[in-house]
Amino acid sequence: MAIVKVPDESRTITQPAEVKTFLTQHGIQFEPWGVERLGDSTAKLGSEEILKAYRPEIDRLKSDNGYVTADIINVTSATPNLDALLAKFDKEHRHADDEVRFTILGSGVFTIHDEKNKVVFEIQVSPGDLINVPAYTAHWFDLCKERTIQCIRLFKDPAGWSPIYTGTKVEEKYEPVCLGPASLNPTLTRRAP
Ligand SMILES: [Fe+2]
Repeated sequence: MAIVKVPDESRTITQPAEVKTFLTQHGIQFEPWGVERLGDSTAKLGSEEILKAYRPEIDRLKSDNGYVTADIINVTSATPNLDALLAKFDKEHRHADDEVRFTILGSGVFTIHDEKNKVVFEIQVSPGDLINVPAYTAHWFDLCKERTIQCIRLFKDPAGWSPIYTGTKVEEKYEPVCLGPASLNPTLTRRAP
């Protein structure tokens, strides 16, 4: 379940209804689709099986928001050129298209810069979370320490996913921290080896 943190207010929101309310207030669509329907062997499922399992939700978002394609992105610590890939998205940027992600495996942190309300907040996504970062929202992304994430993506136009950098370097003021099980130390992402 997604966790929201507002670093400048030292505030963490974990209660699902509060997470949804906060994100809605800041323009982020959030839906807890869950991963129960995938069973215990999610890692072995092919892309088509996963997309089929979420067909009703995918079709609804396509119909509501005009997305035309859905695919699966799969990133692991073994992904070639992973550091270069991550470096494209860990600086504040925007996209001409919505960034729609449903997390199947792994975790990561979307940091959102709500420029209208002058607040920066982090969304740590986990399996089962659907978020939609609307087009032109300033944001950046970091993986959690295990450096693994598998997501369904939806696009109006895949070309719209190219980052448009703001160049503000605001991300340098924030150190995203992934919360693991309570017994673990917080896991840093951007400076992971
Ligand atoms: Fe992005």
